[in-house]
Amino acid sequence: MMKIIKVKDQVEGGQKSFEIFKEGLANNAKVFGLATGSSPIKFYETLVASDLDFIGCTSVNLDEYVGLSADDDQSYHYFMKKNLFDKKPFTKSYLPNGLASDISAELKRYDQVIADNPVDIQILGIGQNGHIGFNEPGTAFDSNTQEVQLTESTIKANARFFENEADVPTKAISMGIGSILKAKKIVLFAYGKSKAEAIKGTVEGPQTTDVPASALQLHDDVTIIVDEAAASLLS
Ligand code: F6R
Repeated sequence: MMKIIKVKDQVEGGQKSFEIFKEGLANNAKVFGLATGSSPIKFYETLVASDLDFIGCTSVNLDEYVGLSADDDQSYHYFMKKNLFDKKPFTKSYLPNGLASDISAELKRYDQVIADNPVDIQILGIGQNGHIGFNEPGTAFDSNTQEVQLTESTIKANARFFENEADVPTKAISMGIGSILKAKKIVLFAYGKSKAEAIKGTVEGPQTTDVPASALQLHDDVTIIVDEAAASLLS
């Protein structure tokens, strides 16, 4: 089942998801699936400013660029440290290792991490093309952790975080769609006009690998937090 919550801005969206996390913690949620990107930033700010703590909890991130070290300021490791972990540490935090020399072993390791730490609440953003994690259009709904080639549109969208487009990594390691669907509860953020079409496909469109997030229709506990612009094409 999909529940849509319309908010006026990212601050209110962060507050709504904070309440979901707080309730989860009160009900013994221990494993939190986390995302990077701009959409969860206000949510992480709300967590940091709160009195919640994640000692005894585990975080499992969706993805990491291939080729970037944890200390690289463009890596998702670095993003998580800066925006959350330095201020609100989890007892254990997992991300894919972008520098793994044996990628296929790393994919297996990460699937094992997910199997050993079933996610209670998963945070997601969504790409303009409907990607979740880095699962681009065409990805099978039952996919496990995989190495992915980023599409031109995703590289362009991510270029804003880099000095120039040529610096944007072209590959990433991402939890698969099947891995994401295993989470007990999913919270997806979408803000801005550029996400409107992807949100329409996710909520009202057919289940199709052309819109990876439409796989969320298969899940029984999804909350979609949207602003007016992202919700503007919903009927
Ligand atoms: C990030 C991730 C991506 C982003 C998506 C939206 O860990 O998995 O799927 O959530 O690209 O990015 P923003 O929020 O920057 O628009």
